[in-house]
Amino acid sequence: MRFDVITIFQEMFSALEHSIPGRAATNNIIDINYWNPRDFTKDKHRCVDDRPYGGGPGMVMMAQPMHDCIHKIKEKNSTAKVIHLSPQGQLLDQDGVKYLAAQENLILLCGRYEGIDERVVEQDIDEEWSIGDYVLSGGELAAMVMIDAITRLLPGALGDAESAEQDSFTTGLLDHQHYTRPEAFNGQKVPKMLLSGAHNAIARWRLREALGRTYLRRPKLLKKRGLSKDEQKLLDEFIKEERELL
Ligand SMILES: C[S@@+](CC[C@H](N)C(=O)[O-])C[C@H]1O[C@@H](n2cnc3c(N)ncnc32)[C@H](O)[C@@H]1O
Repeated sequence: MRFDVITIFQEMFSALEHSIPGRAATNNIIDINYWNPRDFTKDKHRCVDDRPYGGGPGMVMMAQPMHDCIHKIKEKNSTAKVIHLSPQGQLLDQDGVKYLAAQENLILLCGRYEGIDERVVEQDIDEEWSIGDYVLSGGELAAMVMIDAITRLLPGALGDAESAEQDSFTTGLLDHQHYTRPEAFNGQKVPKMLLSGAHNAIARWRLREALGRTYLRRPKLLKKRGLSKDEQKLLDEFIKEERELL
């Protein structure tokens, strides 16, 4: 999958050279290309921002360098989807990540300052996505979050041991808890079931814990997903045990 990132801070993206996105790039599963809107300016200072019409604080990213940059990228791939990372966009969740991972080429536009001249948003952007209801200083961190989450879903990006299948949200539930050696830590033991070697029983226990965690922490996810009869039975068991502990 190809990403074209429009940013004035390419150096921030060195974080993606490590771990899973780094390996995916080495294995040609993803290809990230960077574009600096300063290379599309027409003045000798390579200015990409100016004061806002109407006054007020901050600066605004100018339309022309952004517009020309997007169109330069689209010369090679006119079907690439242009995404504006924006706190005003659609909230990114795992379904959104799945949808974006199915695209072949994304152009990711990273805003700075007060944001980008609205005419670029209206004329050149296909979709706006937010990574959460808070404001970042720029779109770079949001673009990195998006690229990392998408990469995890691309075939071959994760080894078996890192499989995304059981990650939180993939099945509409939060993931169950995990333990590793030692068996006892600070007086607390690993749940007995996990030492039993009974694979089917362990799988049911994990599903029950995932259902229970989702019920306690993110009940809206359960409503959205719905439960089979068997899952409802497991969840009822979990709730009963929780009540007994109170
Ligand atoms: C300081 S913000 C501008 C915020 C803008 N004035 C507003 O209140 O909607 C600068 C840039 O950071 C990026 N950004 C900030 N928060 C974001 C979020 N939650 N998700 C995605 N991008 C974000 C956007 O690209 C934005 O143009």
